[in-house]
Amino acid sequence: MKKEFLESVPLEKFAQLIPNRRRIIESASAEFPEYEYNANRLAKNLHPKVQHTVVTDVKELNGAKLFTFRADPEKGTESLAYFQAGQYISLELKIGDSLLTRPYSLCSSPSQALKGEYQIVVKTMKNGFASAYINENFAAGTKIDISAPEGTFCYEPLRDAKKIVGIAGGSGIAPFLSFAKAIADGTEDFELTLLYGSRTEEEILFKEELEELQNRCGRIHVIHVLSDEEKEGYRHGFISAELISEYVDNDTSVFVCGSQGMYDYIWKEMEKLGLSRKNFRFDAYGEYRLTDRDAEYLTAHQGKVYELTVVTNDGLTHTIPMRCDEPILVAIERAGIKAPSKCRSGECGWCRSRLVSGEVYTPEITEHRRQYDRTAGYIHPCCSFPCSDCKIMINCEGLE
Ligand code: FES
Repeated sequence: MKKEFLESVPLEKFAQLIPNRRRIIESASAEFPEYEYNANRLAKNLHPKVQHTVVTDVKELNGAKLFTFRADPEKGTESLAYFQAGQYISLELKIGDSLLTRPYSLCSSPSQALKGEYQIVVKTMKNGFASAYINENFAAGTKIDISAPEGTFCYEPLRDAKKIVGIAGGSGIAPFLSFAKAIADGTEDFELTLLYGSRTEEEILFKEELEELQNRCGRIHVIHVLSDEEKEGYRHGFISAELISEYVDNDTSVFVCGSQGMYDYIWKEMEKLGLSRKNFRFDAYGEYRLTDRDAEYLTAHQGKVYELTVVTNDGLTHTIPMRCDEPILVAIERAGIKAPSKCRSGECGWCRSRLVSGEVYTPEITEHRRQYDRTAGYIHPCCSFPCSDCKIMINCEGLE
């Protein structure tokens, strides 16, 4: 080290560093400080464990309802977490003795969240347990706990092309409405061509709103496709390979949101076009229903009821029946046991549980477990079906 440099260093100040630090530590309070670091506050705001909300508005749509939520400061939530267009929230419900969750895509723009508002659309599904309950019971003033925004069905500039083709069916329009609003208000920067399938003109959700967004913003194009009606100004039939090929090329990314049946159909059409799954992004569609694809499982187990032992990490053990035609998570919820879940389609990993004994069946298209989890005996009860009596350990830590 050069002599001039050493002479320029104030060594007497260095010598005081450690004694000074000791003095500060000794004089500090043993109590935790009341202030919070900015980084921690930001993380909590973006990823709260739970958001307490209240329904502020309900609008009747054709065959569905549009719900608006705001934060509920009375229960301790001051503002709603920001989100990316295409994400969903999971609603916590108590219906009868069942404690369950339901994921719904946000159909509002992220910029509305900054003004303290989320919106979701709930269509009453045939045999829909939760959707019927929500549409019949939620009104202005209803208090409801929801998760932070979740999901990866979002535009990612590093991965996706600047031109997006959206394929929507029924209430699968929700994330695309959020995309369109976000493009129109400048939150997102891509071009959206939306192929929106409905049975009849009357069943189209948000028709006027989509028209208004299209007229206001040149980067939004909406093509309505009616399967049960032939009308001027609408395409007729299904969103077939032929129709898709009119809009999709190598410079487009394709996003799909709709029912499980629609996905089955679109996969077949994709094969005709020779397009791979990697060109397409599918939104999580909620609870998986067994189909012909699961014929082997159904033949062996249909109609059977097995016994499920659930051990929660608070040390309680419950023994309950579980049917083979439903995911294990449904049996747990029906028994009134509060279990973690969000997407209900195998993707988020929130319900990850240890299979202590027994055997389960996981349909291939819901298989998103990491390789380690598969070999180490972890399952996602939201998309696992029993093949025998089972014992599982669920992690309820952090649930409010
Ligand atoms: S709830 Fe998301 S993986 Fe089960």
